[in-house]
Amino acid sequence: MSPTAGDDERFVESRLGARQDPGLILRPMVASDLKPVRCLLAGCYRWLEEQERWGDEALKEMLQCRASIETIQAAAHSQRWMIATIAEQTVGVVAVDRHEIARLYVDPAQHRRGIGARLFKTALELISEAGYGEAILGSNESALPFYRAMGMTITAQKPYGLSAFAGHTVYLMAGPASGQPDH
Ligand SMILES: CC(C)(COP(=O)(O)OP(=O)(O)OC[C@H]1O[C@@H](n2cnc3c(N)ncnc32)[C@H](O)[C@@H]1OP(=O)(O)O)[C@@H](O)C(=O)NCCC(=O)NCCS
Repeated sequence: MSPTAGDDERFVESRLGARQDPGLILRPMVASDLKPVRCLLAGCYRWLEEQERWGDEALKEMLQCRASIETIQAAAHSQRWMIATIAEQTVGVVAVDRHEIARLYVDPAQHRRGIGARLFKTALELISEAGYGEAILGSNESALPFYRAMGMTITAQKPYGLSAFAGHTVYLMAGPASGQPDH
């Protein structure tokens, strides 16, 4: 989780090539990103709760468990976490676990600026480089239009595993790891 600054720069150059958007930087998460990532996830979960109407108990669970520094730190041991920054502000994050996109979040104030698509594309590259031909993920309802735009299709659906989310559905999706979305 802690590449050197030089590694980060090389990674950004290789991922973004000509850097169509010089303000947006994608790089691996490092230890000093944990707090900003936690704040980003907390803001995203609050926003998502309004979209998906999870209710207070589910939001509390997300904030206390999924958005905690300890959970992020533990997940980062086995997953590849990439963050997106603009002017040193953390505006997005993606986590890849083997061939699964385990998390993908963009600051609600920055939606529809192509940041999610860039993170998604980077995740596909990591999955493809790891030797997988297919990417999978679990989506909530409000993110379905985004993932469809990224070329993913629904393969199954199931209830959320956590009791606080009773009545909510997870959409399992899959798509080619080598396919590049049009964004
Ligand atoms: C899903 C999410 C990551 C998308 O990030 P984003 O940066 O806003 O997405 P982009 O700007 O890259 O969108 C790319 C394309 O996806 C589609 N898209 C994205 N959001 C959409 C929406 N709300 N409705 C319809 N289409 C959408 C569009 O085709 C868009 O291209 P366009 O803006 O040129 O029309 C973001 O909404 C988010 O963080 N949501 C909350 C967290 C979440 O639900 N994550 C998924 C976990 S399961």
